[in-house]
Amino acid sequence: MSLAVDPRAVESLLAFWADAGVEASYADEPIDRLAEGAALLRARSQPPPPVPSAPMLVASRGPDPTAAVEQARAQAALCNDLPALAAAIAAFDGCPLKSMGARQAVVSRGPADAPLMIIGECPGPDEDQQGEPFVGAAGQMLDRMLKAAGLEGRALITNTVFWRPPGNRAPTPQEQAVCAPFVERAIQLVQPRLLLLVGGASAKALLKREDGILTLRGRWFEWTSSDGALELPALPTLHPAFLLRQPAAKKKAWIDMLMLAERLDRPERPH
Ligand code: URA
Repeated sequence: MSLAVDPRAVESLLAFWADAGVEASYADEPIDRLAEGAALLRARSQPPPPVPSAPMLVASRGPDPTAAVEQARAQAALCNDLPALAAAIAAFDGCPLKSMGARQAVVSRGPADAPLMIIGECPGPDEDQQGEPFVGAAGQMLDRMLKAAGLEGRALITNTVFWRPPGNRAPTPQEQAVCAPFVERAIQLVQPRLLLLVGGASAKALLKREDGILTLRGRWFEWTSSDGALELPALPTLHPAFLLRQPAAKKKAWIDMLMLAERLDRPERPH
């Protein structure tokens, strides 16, 4: 028996799900979360199962993240320019985000010899669609700020991870760790004078600190490559998406931008 499907009903259903924030499907069959919840409640009334040993815990989390980091490091080391790095990232399968509904890898935009590198958190829906970082509303605000501070066209922009996390969540530390060798290789290839770390998830990952962004922002830190060979001044600042939600915080971000522009144009002292 063939079922006649009304295309308008399908469009209306898809629009309903999009409005509810559902933008990707991961399986052919729906999952009944209510039934899962009931099973969970039943399980909670049972005595707790024995705690699995450490190897079982690791195995249940999917591919070994240490192996993926090593693989990323080895592949990044083979890249001698940004196009090669972008190709290696696109071909890399070690980041779990790649198979969570992202359309494509989003790597960088801006001049390859930029004196400034900006590292955001992760691609969002617009970046996922267009394949370039910071092209949505937050990116347009970032561009306006860079222009007003005299930094237009002087920054190479990238993120801590290269695939859009599902549901616009923040990237996990594990996802960031797997992508970190590629981020580090990009910094080594560009050799900027300064780094701008945009948002808490970027500042924490690059500086390996637990403090919140409101504590870190507006202060200079030293970013060091994993082999210790490269050290660069790094300035954490507020994320433009946060500024769109909290316009009163723009003043702080503007102060950071001016600090950045002043240091970038300060003549380097001869050694
Ligand atoms: N937010 C980010 O952190 N990065 C992007 O590329 C876009 C939005």
